[in-house]
Amino acid sequence: MCIANQKGGVGKTTTAVNLAAALAAGGLGVLVIDLDPQGNASTALGVDHSEGTPSSYNLLLWEQNFQELAQQSPTNPNLYCIPATIDLAGAEIELVSMFSRERRLAEVLVPEDLRALGIDYVFVDCPPSLGLLTLNAMVAAKEILVPIQCEYYALEGVTQLLRNVELVTEALNKSLAVSTVMLTMYDARTNLSHQVAEEVRQHFGSKVLRNVIPRNIKISEAPSYNQTILDYDPGSKGALAYIDAAKEINERFIAEFGALVAANSKHEDED
Ligand SMILES: Nc1ncnc2c1ncn2[C@@H]1O[C@H](COP(=O)(O)OP(=O)(O)OP(=O)(O)O)[C@@H](O)[C@H]1O
Ligand SMILES: [Mg+2]
Repeated sequence: MCIANQKGGVGKTTTAVNLAAALAAGGLGVLVIDLDPQGNASTALGVDHSEGTPSSYNLLLWEQNFQELAQQSPTNPNLYCIPATIDLAGAEIELVSMFSRERRLAEVLVPEDLRALGIDYVFVDCPPSLGLLTLNAMVAAKEILVPIQCEYYALEGVTQLLRNVELVTEALNKSLAVSTVMLTMYDARTNLSHQVAEEVRQHFGSKVLRNVIPRNIKISEAPSYNQTILDYDPGSKGALAYIDAAKEINERFIAEFGALVAANSKHEDED
């Protein structure tokens, strides 16, 4: 699942790490690939991403195996992260002249290898742009999750995002679709939040998750302790909202691809 919205600060990273943590807490194997040179997802998941650390740069530029690059979360053995280091800042330009530049991620993320490692979900945290890094994520993904902040200009840029997804679907990845839209930073006290939520639901219909993520101070504090909200304050409204959203996503997945989950849970029983 590619987490994308070229608008900055809408909750892409927060959603990637906290959904991942919630699914992992529920016993599923989850890999987060940090594809943003800012490295915010790596920070929030508490994994090393100092300069020179094997990272998503190695994955894209050197086609190194993800098994060698994934770091296990310090708090949950089901949760892995391939971090982003500052090296990734140059990747957008370095990729331009490379062979098969938009398929680099797709080629290294072999579904059978992921399954062999016990990975059920992969979340790719994208930077706030529609450049080659995001394109690689879209070509590798089956689904796109678009977080939308319940604020002014919420839908700004979304039309452009959808147009890009359409182009990718036509030319590069037939199985790609925007499957999920998530409302973030929802403030139940304001009319604005209600209006934005209403507008987004009209626009995207059933793609919008029933569960919305409230604006919650604990969510914004957690990354400064290198923690997800599930570790930082598991009883907070923010943690509960991400747990409910994760359940909803997993239920949708089971409804659509039930057999695959059943096959995976079989090797869980064997462990
Ligand atoms: N539900 C929430 N409640 C309160 N603060 C939040 C919530 N979700 C995200 N934030 C805060 O809002 C800011 C932006 O969130 P985040 O970094 O997840 O967005 P982003 O889309 O990944 O940003 P960028 O485009 O820079 O990658 C962060 O400071 C984050 O802690
Ligand atoms: Mg981010």
